[in-house]
Amino acid sequence: MEMQRLLIGSSPAINEVLDEIACASRTDAKTLITGESGVGKEVVANMIHHHSRRRGAPFVAINCAGVPDSLLESELFGHMRGSFTDAHRDKMGWFERANHGTVFLDEIGEMSSRMQAALLRFLESGEIQRVGSDHARITVDVRILAATNRDLSARMAEKQFREDLYYRLNVIRIAIPPLRERAEDVLPLVNHFIRLSSENYRVARPVLDSEAAARLTNYGWPGNVRELKNVVERLVVRGTGGVIGAADLPREILGDWRSSMPTVQPSSATSDKLYERMVIGGESFWSVVGEPFMARDLTRDDLRGVITRGLEHSRGSYKQLLQVFNIAPGDYKRLLSFLRKYGCHMPFQKFRSIPVTAKRLEYQSERERLSKTG
Ligand SMILES: Nc1ncnc2c1ncn2[C@@H]1O[C@H](COP(=O)(O)OP(=O)(O)OP(=O)(O)O)[C@@H](O)[C@H]1O
Ligand SMILES: [Mg+2]
Repeated sequence: MEMQRLLIGSSPAINEVLDEIACASRTDAKTLITGESGVGKEVVANMIHHHSRRRGAPFVAINCAGVPDSLLESELFGHMRGSFTDAHRDKMGWFERANHGTVFLDEIGEMSSRMQAALLRFLESGEIQRVGSDHARITVDVRILAATNRDLSARMAEKQFREDLYYRLNVIRIAIPPLRERAEDVLPLVNHFIRLSSENYRVARPVLDSEAAARLTNYGWPGNVRELKNVVERLVVRGTGGVIGAADLPREILGDWRSSMPTVQPSSATSDKLYERMVIGGESFWSVVGEPFMARDLTRDDLRGVITRGLEHSRGSYKQLLQVFNIAPGDYKRLLSFLRKYGCHMPFQKFRSIPVTAKRLEYQSERERLSKTG
């Protein structure tokens, strides 16, 4: 997919980010890009590279999360034949392949302490040594950009992230605010993605009515621009004809019932976030909840909170939960045994006895009101 090289938005915050991109492009200074998931960190990294003198050389983006250490090390630094079982020949790492270009280290906050140490050595010397090679250090010329959606100060306080590495990476800092703090950007983004999606899917370009525009602008966008893009794409593809009214909007945008109505069981901000990443963001239960739980980044209460919200939605059906949480159908048993093992398997009966929860009622009356007025 061709990476977006255009930052849409007219808020002061976006203008400031554009200035910072221009400034970062003029130098080789290491740059740390921070912001919640989906705010556009990768777009910014890409723009810095494409505005810099390095634009003719490669831009390489590496996701540091979810890659086992040994693999990440050989991906970054390369390896020599025979250095591990599957190393059938010498292989160049990304730092070498990106020579004269830019390497974007995404989700740097997830790097293990061993990899942090290796990266720091490289940043200090500019030299790499392939895995399994005991001589041959190679000097490479790459510009480093890094991004994280974690609070690195908190990670440092917990001794999970090295301070010396942080100060190395944080020479220029670009912080992208969440979309809810720059509501002026919502409509320009919506219109941009309406245009893009209707071109991509070859459907007539719809227009928003003013009620829908107001709803979209006032919504909190927990998944930021990525969520907005998905919502707009779905609206365009469903293409019920010329005008998008408020009643066409997904229900999470329509009734902000999460904040206004009591839930069956109070759910924490964390489990709400996780729930939204799955239901709105389309991410899978295992990556959003399973892995962080195993890594002790989530508590049992968080896990229970997520399952509770899911069961409310599926009215107690664990089978239907699979779909809601983007879990492969074959993983049904795995899910149940995971929940049982950690004492988070909830009795489904109590969810069956709530045929219509308060939030659903509110949502329904809201829909009715809208369909009458709209
Ligand atoms: N200001 C913007 N203008 C146009 N498109 C944008 C903007 N911000 C983000 N996007 C689009 O939103 C999506 C998410 O952006 P991106 O991948 O850069 O987010 P991210 O901050 O890297 O998220 P994550 O932390 O989840 O990796 C992409 O499709 C990107 O093209
Ligand atoms: Mg990203």
